[in-house]
Amino acid sequence: MAEYVFGNPEVIEEEVDMLIIGGGMAASGTAFEVPRWIEGTGLKVKLVDKAALSRSGAVAQGLSAINTYMGDNDPADYVRYVRNDLMGIVREDLIYDVGRHVDDSVHNFEDWGLPIWKAQGDEEKSLRAGGKPVRSGRWQIMINGESYKWIVAEAAKKALGMDKIQERVFIVRLINDKNDPTRIAGAAGFSVREHKLYIYKFKACMLAAGGAVNVFRPRSVGEGGGRAWFPVWNAGSTYSMAAEAGAEMTMMENRFVPARFKDGYGPVGAWFLLFKAKVQNGMGEDYGTLRGDVIKDEKRFGKYGQGVPGTCLRNHIMLEEMINGRGPIFMDTPTALAKLGEKMTPKELKHLEAEAWEDFLDMTISQCGIWAGENVEPEKTMSEIMPTEPYLLGSHSGCAGLWVSGPTDLPGVPKEWSWGYRSMTTVKGLFSAGDGVGASGHKFSSGSHAEGRIAGKAMVKYCLDNKDWKPELDRSTQDLVDEIYKPVRTFLEHKDYTTAIDINPHYITPKMLQFRLQKIMDEYVAGVGTYYRTNKKLLEIAEFKLGMLKEDSLKMRAKDLHELLRAWENYHRIMSAEAHMKHIQFREETRYPGFYYHMDYNYIDDANWKCFSNSRYDKTTKKWTLKKVPYVQVIK
Ligand code: FAD
Ligand code: ADX
Repeated sequence: MAEYVFGNPEVIEEEVDMLIIGGGMAASGTAFEVPRWIEGTGLKVKLVDKAALSRSGAVAQGLSAINTYMGDNDPADYVRYVRNDLMGIVREDLIYDVGRHVDDSVHNFEDWGLPIWKAQGDEEKSLRAGGKPVRSGRWQIMINGESYKWIVAEAAKKALGMDKIQERVFIVRLINDKNDPTRIAGAAGFSVREHKLYIYKFKACMLAAGGAVNVFRPRSVGEGGGRAWFPVWNAGSTYSMAAEAGAEMTMMENRFVPARFKDGYGPVGAWFLLFKAKVQNGMGEDYGTLRGDVIKDEKRFGKYGQGVPGTCLRNHIMLEEMINGRGPIFMDTPTALAKLGEKMTPKELKHLEAEAWEDFLDMTISQCGIWAGENVEPEKTMSEIMPTEPYLLGSHSGCAGLWVSGPTDLPGVPKEWSWGYRSMTTVKGLFSAGDGVGASGHKFSSGSHAEGRIAGKAMVKYCLDNKDWKPELDRSTQDLVDEIYKPVRTFLEHKDYTTAIDINPHYITPKMLQFRLQKIMDEYVAGVGTYYRTNKKLLEIAEFKLGMLKEDSLKMRAKDLHELLRAWENYHRIMSAEAHMKHIQFREETRYPGFYYHMDYNYIDDANWKCFSNSRYDKTTKKWTLKKVPYVQVIK
């Protein structure tokens, strides 16, 4: 009986006007913003998160800095900074829009209780009242952020009401409208705790389910498996579901390869910017000064290596050391702390050492575990840093994502970059923000929240403009149940064929399938195993193998709800991986040296490739179409 129930979930169907998918920074911004615009309109909204709002998404463990705060800065300068860091190809309208709105989100965070470090003398003054923050860099400010996500989620919950929030529901599919395939009309997912399947109908939806992790074989395998820099529950759902619904994507060849403290994935920003730490190679050389001018080779790096190097170019300089046998790379924490401590009292020095630990305790606790486990005292011992496996994302130092409609009020922006509703994708009613939106990185936590708010407001307008429109799903309930519960049924049907539950010719466990995906991506699509290098032939093989993997993904088993989640996460990862691979194949240059190298075209080619690369997936033919879209410089 129990097994019968397991194979046939209870189906719950619900109609709202707006569905918010995800509960991270962007979704929390939308949840905070929407209620004030729907007051008195009768519009209904709901939020679904696969995890628990208070601790979900990339900010789950907390953060120690807010990386985007304008303060006295001009948003136009912010655009210039992001453009430089992302190698010249960005949607400047979207970035400017985030820049001019982001501070209001940060001021709200402080009002809601987030402790923000203040400059001496301004300790009691809020940012809103003109208090000066402690800046680690031009754009970054320091916080005591262990409870950052908790605070932001609380405000979202208060604004929306807990009755409109459903936690632990994993959305698997978006569903197009029966009468208009260019419109979105619903979504389907399942509870990760109970045998319940949810089908939502709506006029519009905010898809803000973060970026993609564990697509590539991580450096942490075996005992360290499961440890990654990016939040492990962001499995590419945003990219995969939007692509299958027909949304245009942009810059999916981009990836982020963060340089991090080795094995614990501890962040480096505060060490570089606040503590002014220096790095050295295995021989103790300041390799940046000795050989940093490798990126000045114009034939290979164009003009991009001449000024302040972008994040990928900083990686490139480090990789050159490692590839040429001069590794490992060390962060010289003892010298940095000693220098800072020169004019400090012993008490102040102890406080500084505590801050060094807190930088990790705030957001990457596992790095403290490594320090404690290996008896590392940062004031005495240097730590290795290392470029990690690649991640796909659109809000940190990367710009993969969806092609969305921009603001309408900025001069010099091409008309075709805006189709009425800010942050709406090319599918009517489907909105995104944060990691979901492409060609506009460096939003970080605060910018993602702000973009979620901007998009939320536009989504309400869309719903009001389409008030009388009724969604009709292009798939039946039975069809959705059969598809989503297939891994469960495959398991129930075949489980008794063998005595060892994990070994069975009729199915593959999600864990094994994930290993295969990661192996393919690592070895053929420029993962750590090849020092991020690929070529046409390798990509051709990757394409074939990913095709095979997609076929086999239909044979994944789910012996419980946890595995059902893992199975569908893998499916989302495969789709995201395919998009990434197709885009790398399409772009015949190496735009992001240090993130990846296309060895057949190992140079930046502005003459032919200073353009966006956009793609569309056709769910019927299962084919991708790619095209160049002209880049337009909006801010001089
Ligand atoms: P997220 O906040 O990651 O939210 C994604 C949400 O989607 C989660 O709630 C998740 O549960 C949900 N979800 C995923 N899939 C599904 C699905 N299928 N169905 C339903 N729900 C789903 N920014 C800073 O400003 N300062 C920093 O110091 C900083 N440090 C960072 C450190 C790390 C390790 C990382 C990874 C990021 C850091 N950032 C920092 C960046 C910041 O965290 C992100 O920019 C921001 O969280 C992106 O917001 P988002 O809403 O797009 O995604
Ligand atoms: S975090 O999100 O995990 O904290 P990270 O530590 O890389 O990220 O960076 C925090 C901020 O510092 C980001 O805005 C990043 O671009 C910036 N940053 C990190 N390292 C450097 C560096 N060496 N030079 C300039 N900016 C840097």
